[in-house]
Amino acid sequence: MLRLRRLRRNESIRALVRETRLTPDDFVYPMFVCEGEGIRREIASMPGQYNFSVDELVKEAEQVRSLGIRAVIIFGIPSYKDAIGREAYGEDSIVQRATRALKREVKDLLVITDTCLCEYTDHGHCGVVRDSEVLNDPTLELLARTAVSQAKAGADIIAPSNMMDGFVAAIRAALDTAGFEQVPILSYAVKYASAFYGPFREAAKSAPQFGDRKSYQMDVANFREAMREAEVDVTEGADILMVKPALPYLDVLHALRQRYNLPLAAYQVSGEYAMIKSAAQRGWLDEKQVMIETLTAIKRAGADLILTYFAKQAVQCF
Ligand code: PBG
Repeated sequence: MLRLRRLRRNESIRALVRETRLTPDDFVYPMFVCEGEGIRREIASMPGQYNFSVDELVKEAEQVRSLGIRAVIIFGIPSYKDAIGREAYGEDSIVQRATRALKREVKDLLVITDTCLCEYTDHGHCGVVRDSEVLNDPTLELLARTAVSQAKAGADIIAPSNMMDGFVAAIRAALDTAGFEQVPILSYAVKYASAFYGPFREAAKSAPQFGDRKSYQMDVANFREAMREAEVDVTEGADILMVKPALPYLDVLHALRQRYNLPLAAYQVSGEYAMIKSAAQRGWLDEKQVMIETLTAIKRAGADLILTYFAKQAVQCF
C-alpha cells in the first residue's frame, strides 16, 4: 500500500523531506519614520510596530540587522502635507534623512524606499488631484523626482507603490538619467485596492480624505488583469515584482511564479499582521504557529522575498 504517512512519523524525517524553508534572507522589515527626536510611538492597531524618529530608527535598524535581517523598507510620516506631496521629494525630507542615517550608521543594511505620494499629500491620494480625479501623467513626474531624491540619499532599491500607469518606465528613465542605472526597481506590480491596508493608513496617517483608491489600485476580483499589470512592469524594466497583500492573493503569486523568471516579492500587509496579532491577544490563535504557517505558505506559493512586520519575531523562531 502507498503510505504517505511513512515520511511523517517524526520531526527528523519530516525535516528531511521538507520542501519549503524560511531563512532570515527571505525577509524585508517595514519601518515607519517620523519627525522629531527620541520618538518611539507604538501604532495602536499594529502592536509591536512603531513610529520612530530618525535616531530611534537607526537604533532599531541596528537590532534588526543583528538578528540577521538584511533589508528594511521605510515609510515616511512627514509633519507637513500639501496638495502635491512636496515632502516626498525634498532633499532633506524625512525619508531622505532617514536613508542617509541608515546607510551611514548601520553596516550592510539594504535600504529600500517606498516611492509613493499618499503619505505626503493633504488629500491622501497617491497622485496629483484635479476635480476629484487622480491624474496619471502629472503624477509620474513627481514620482520620478521622488525616486531620484531617494537614490541620491543612498537608497539601495526603489519600490514604487502608487499604481499609476507607466510608473516603472518613468522612474527607470529618471534614475538612469541621474546616473543611478545600478539601482533596481522593486515594483508593486500587482497591488489590490485592499481593505487590509487599514492599520498602515492609521500608522502613516495616509487614508484618502475623499473617495477611495479603486481608480488606480486593482479590483480584488481580478486575476487576468494582474497578469497584465505584471507584464507591463516587466516590459518597462522592473527588476523584482511584488504582489500585495500576500495571503489573500497566493493564486496570483503562484501564477506569476510560473510565468516569470524575475524574483518575486510578497507583502504581508498591516491588516494581515493585525488580524493575527489581535486573535493571538485574545488567546484565539497561537501567534507563533500562525505566523510561521502564513509566512511558509507565502514562500511555498512562490515568493523569493517577503515584506512582513513579523520579520523580527520570525527570525527569532529559527
Ligand atoms: C503607499 C502604501 C500603502 C501600503 C504600502 N505602501 C498604503 C496604501 O496603498 O494605502 C500598505 C502597507 C500595509 O498595509 O502594510 N501607497
